[in-house]
Amino acid sequence: MPESTVPTQDQLHAALATVIDPEIRKPITELGMVESAEVDADGRATVKILLTVAGCPMKQTLTKDTEAAVRRLPGVTDATVELGVMDEEQRAALRQHLRGGQAEREIPFAKPGSLTRVYAIASGKGGVGKSSITANLAAALADEGLKVGVVDADVHGFSIPRMLGVEHRPTQVDDMILPPVAHEVKVISVGMFVPGNQPVVWRGPMLHRALQQFLADVFWGDLDVLLLDLPPGTGDIAISVAQLIPGAEILVVTTPQQAAAEVAERAGSIAVQTHQRIVGVVENMSWLELPDGSRQEIFGAGGGQRVAESLTRTIGADVSLLGQVPLDTRLREGSDTGTPVVLGDPTSPAAVALRGVAKGLAQRSRGLAGRSLGLSPSGR
Ligand SMILES: Nc1ncnc2c1ncn2[C@@H]1O[C@H](COP(=O)(O)OP(=O)(O)OP(=O)(O)O)[C@@H](O)[C@H]1O
Ligand SMILES: [Mg+2]
Repeated sequence: MPESTVPTQDQLHAALATVIDPEIRKPITELGMVESAEVDADGRATVKILLTVAGCPMKQTLTKDTEAAVRRLPGVTDATVELGVMDEEQRAALRQHLRGGQAEREIPFAKPGSLTRVYAIASGKGGVGKSSITANLAAALADEGLKVGVVDADVHGFSIPRMLGVEHRPTQVDDMILPPVAHEVKVISVGMFVPGNQPVVWRGPMLHRALQQFLADVFWGDLDVLLLDLPPGTGDIAISVAQLIPGAEILVVTTPQQAAAEVAERAGSIAVQTHQRIVGVVENMSWLELPDGSRQEIFGAGGGQRVAESLTRTIGADVSLLGQVPLDTRLREGSDTGTPVVLGDPTSPAAVALRGVAKGLAQRSRGLAGRSLGLSPSGR
C-alpha cells in the first residue's frame, strides 16, 4: 500500500467549505469563522473555529460537523476543533457580509425587488388552526426545497416554536438576530424573547416595533417564502403587517362553521382596506374520517367555500379555496411533539391536504409574473 500523504491547504479548505453554520446556513469558510486549519506530518488536523458569540447554542453541532468533515479527508488520522470567539471587528465584518449592502433596520421583504413571497396567515376567530397550518405549510414548503422563514406574530399565544420543535433561543450577534432552524425552517417568535412561559401584554405600538424588529434585525438570508402567523382577530397587527410589508398576501383560515366563516370574511376584508392581496382560503377541521371511510362533518359544511366566494365579491378578484384539511389526531400530536404531520405522517389525509396547499403556494412562489424586479442589485 502506498504511504498516504497529508491533505493540502486547498483540500482542507474545500472540506471545511462543506461545513454549514447551523444558524446562518452558509459555509463557515464564507463567514470568516475558520481562523486556522493545519495538518501535521502524522495526519493530525487542528482547526480553530471562531464562534459569533461565546454562548453560541450551536457550538456542539459545529464542532461535530467540522471534525467529521476534516476526518473524511484521505490522510487525516485525527481532527481536533478549538473554539474561539470573534472579536468586535470580525463580527462587524460578518454582519456586513450577511447584510450584503442592505442598510441596517431595513426590511428586505418590503423592498420592491424582493423575490420573497410573504403570506400572513389570518383568521377572525381563535382556535381555528392558524398556527397548525402555518407550521405545516412551512415544513412542507421547506421539504419542497424552498427556503422558508416563519414569524410567530401571535404575541398573545405564541405556539409556533413548540409546533416546529424549536429547542433553543436565537443567537444575538450585536444587533443582528440569528433565528433558530427546525425542519429547515427559520423560526422567530415573541416567545423566544420572554422568560419562561409568561404572557405578554403588549399594546399596538409595541407590537408594531416587535414585528419591525423581527423583520429587519433577524438574519433571514435569501428566503423564498416567509409565513407570518397572526393573532386571531382583525386587530392592529394585521395593519402593521400591511404597513411594514405592503406586498404581503393574506391566507385566510376558517372552519366549515357558519359563525367562523363570517368572522373569517371580516378578517379577509381588512385586506381590502390595506390593499393587500388575498392568496386564498384554507378550510380546517372540515370533517372527521370514520373507520368505515365515511366523513362526519362535525363543524358543518361549506364555510371555506362561502368565505372564498364572499371575498371574491368583496375584493373583486378571484379568491379560491386552496384546500380542506380534515380533523386528524395525528395533526394535533405532530404539533405537540414538534414534528409537523406533513413530515411525521405524510400520507395521512390531513398531511395530504396540507401538502396540496403547500404545492400550490410553492408553484406561485417560483414565478416572477406580476412582480417588480427592481433595477438596482439587491446584493443578497
Ligand atoms: N385539522 C385538525 N385536526 C385535529 N386537531 C387540530 C386540527 N387543526 C388544529 N387542531 C388543534 O386545534 C388546536 C388549535 O389549533 P391552533 O393552535 O393551530 O389554532 P390557532 O388558530 O392558531 O389558535 P389561536 O387563535 O389560539 O392562535 C390545537 O390544539 C391543534 O392541535
Ligand atoms: Mg395560533
